[in-house]
Amino acid sequence: QANLNQLAKAAGKLYFGSATDNGELSDSAYVAVLKNSNEFGQITPGNTQKWQYTEPSNGVFSYTQGDVITSFAQANGQVLRCHNLVWHNQLPSWVSSGSWTAAQLTDILNTHIASEVGHYKGQCYAWDVVNEALNDDGTYRTDVFYNVLGTSYIPIAFKAAAAADPAAKLYYNDYNIEYSGAKATAALGIVKLIQNAGARIDGVGFQGHFIVGGTPSQSALASVLNSFVTLGVEVAYTEVDVRFSSLPATSAGYTQQANDYAAVVGACLAVSKCVGITVWDFDDKYSWIPSTFSGQGEACLYWQNLTAKPAYYKVQSLLAAA
Ligand code: G3I
Repeated sequence: QANLNQLAKAAGKLYFGSATDNGELSDSAYVAVLKNSNEFGQITPGNTQKWQYTEPSNGVFSYTQGDVITSFAQANGQVLRCHNLVWHNQLPSWVSSGSWTAAQLTDILNTHIASEVGHYKGQCYAWDVVNEALNDDGTYRTDVFYNVLGTSYIPIAFKAAAAADPAAKLYYNDYNIEYSGAKATAALGIVKLIQNAGARIDGVGFQGHFIVGGTPSQSALASVLNSFVTLGVEVAYTEVDVRFSSLPATSAGYTQQANDYAAVVGACLAVSKCVGITVWDFDDKYSWIPSTFSGQGEACLYWQNLTAKPAYYKVQSLLAAA
């Protein structure tokens, strides 16, 4: 059987990809899988393009760590999804705890985005410009950006990114917007907000952090993707993993997990404007889940020992049949 990215491309997608992170690149067995562009044709830096790494103090920019990942992708012929420019989390405290006027914070946003997008100009297929602006009930997160600028920080960020790299696709990226409800409706509102402000938004990223047995059906997922496509944007699954909410996993659980991954991949296959699927790392060894959700995990396509799970084979055969 062919590898996932090869199969995804044959099915008309741009890529099948994975997140990775700097520390993982010293694991040669892991890297041997990651660098195979037939398997993963796209890479997302899991951390080191975030604000805390790239502008740790005001006006002091550092791209050394981010560049490690972008160079890796380039060396291996992999598309880059760049992640992310504006997020309440992993935001240095000089930004989050400053008492800014609207003009000052606008300046800070413009400077940060011009520098970072400028640094990576021409390298990013897409940028996650604004990440996770919404609470689960569909209200805006009251982070420093919203508190000082209201919703205007969102079009400000998209305009700055568009100016700094006209060729990069500009995305809004969030979780729990993959199925219909208040948060998905609010995310549709963000797309319209950006468009109505005369700014460019090219895509919406659906993170896709799901739970075994709790993943929406393919048709429910595809219907939400289509509601965004109707607004004129492309869509992608950007951070997929399907975690067990309790461990150890059972063999029935692995079958369910395979079906859950298949629902996500199947939804993307069913929507032509869904450009690709990114897993939030492919190996349980490097999953973010256990450290955030105690007692949960095994969310990835590969076990820690780098052997493929039933979910991998199910995704592979689904892509092959498309
Ligand atoms: O780099 C330090 C290290 O020096 C220190 O010793 C260690 C001790 O805790 O922490 C290290 O930093 C960690 C960092 O990942 C790099 O490994 C942070 O503690 C940890 O909080 C951070 O977690 C990241 C998380 O975002 C932060 O919210 C995950 O790796 C990353 O996968 C995750 O990614 C997010 C996406 O960006 C947005 N969507 C959700 C997704 C999952 O949370």
